[in-house]
Amino acid sequence: MTALPPHVAIANHKGGVGKTALAHGLAVAAAEAGHRVLAIDMDPQASLTRRLRAQISPNPDEHLHASLAHVLERPAVGEIERILVPCGYGGIYSDRIRIAPSHLDLELVVRSAAQAASERRLLRAISGVVDDFDLVLIDCPPRLLCHLTDLAWTASDVLLIPCEGEYEAVQAARRVKERVIADRDTLNPKLEIAGMVVSRYRANLTLHRQRAVEMEKIVGKEGMCPIRLPEYVSFKKATENARPLAELGSEEKQMASLFRDVYKWSRDRIDTVMKEAA
Ligand SMILES: Nc1ncnc2c1ncn2[C@@H]1O[C@H](COP(=O)(O)OP(=O)(O)OP(=O)(O)O)[C@@H](O)[C@H]1O
Ligand SMILES: [Mg+2]
Repeated sequence: MTALPPHVAIANHKGGVGKTALAHGLAVAAAEAGHRVLAIDMDPQASLTRRLRAQISPNPDEHLHASLAHVLERPAVGEIERILVPCGYGGIYSDRIRIAPSHLDLELVVRSAAQAASERRLLRAISGVVDDFDLVLIDCPPRLLCHLTDLAWTASDVLLIPCEGEYEAVQAARRVKERVIADRDTLNPKLEIAGMVVSRYRANLTLHRQRAVEMEKIVGKEGMCPIRLPEYVSFKKATENARPLAELGSEEKQMASLFRDVYKWSRDRIDTVMKEAA
């Protein structure tokens, strides 16, 4: 029997801290490392879906049945397979990255949250399908107490928390840890926090340096990714254009290289955390 790939949710209780940037950067870095990635977009904003240029049918009827929301209504085991689409970048990225695309209608999944074991629906939908991948990434919405987050966390082994060097983002990250501890028994007994990645970092700001120290207190030294993702204006343009960073300008190439380092660190860290938890 082959080992299952790690199932990694990218989460923070704050919007705009770089969750989707990290999910995107890791998916691309994993593909560049030769790994096959299942990228699940659990945010109704559908930013990861757009940024990876998920190859969704333009036909609205097909589109309705090909959405993650449709699968999650009452999923059969492995049903997510029928909606998976390749990344639209071409080359290795299209070969290696499959996306479970999101759409605004994902918000409506919340309506059926009262059904028995409803928070296990994503786990059921990906069961078996994950065997074909080396990494499962789940981009979460920026909310903590919400059914979509429950679905994502129930289907995950570990969380990675991207965090900006600002007070509210650090507080939000702290709340993620508190919820993992408080709800572990009911939601997902094996869920662990693998670590935290500093995003949008400006080394010349004393405040950002101080906040990074506070982050370390939340996840411990071992859980703190040593690579800090700098704030680059050019990164915003790359986000708009939805292209792999390695194909853009020099600053974006540098960022792509940092994401590869973050990916390497994350894999090692996730292995350690999962072994310790086993
Ligand atoms: N390192 C960076 N440098 C510059 N801009 C960045 C960086 N990381 C993220 N951004 C920008 O910040 C914005 C928010 O990033 P992103 O969408 O990844 O955050 P998020 O946490 O997923 O947001 P949401 O909570 O809305 O899902 C985007 O416009 C993105 O381009
Ligand atoms: Mg996002």
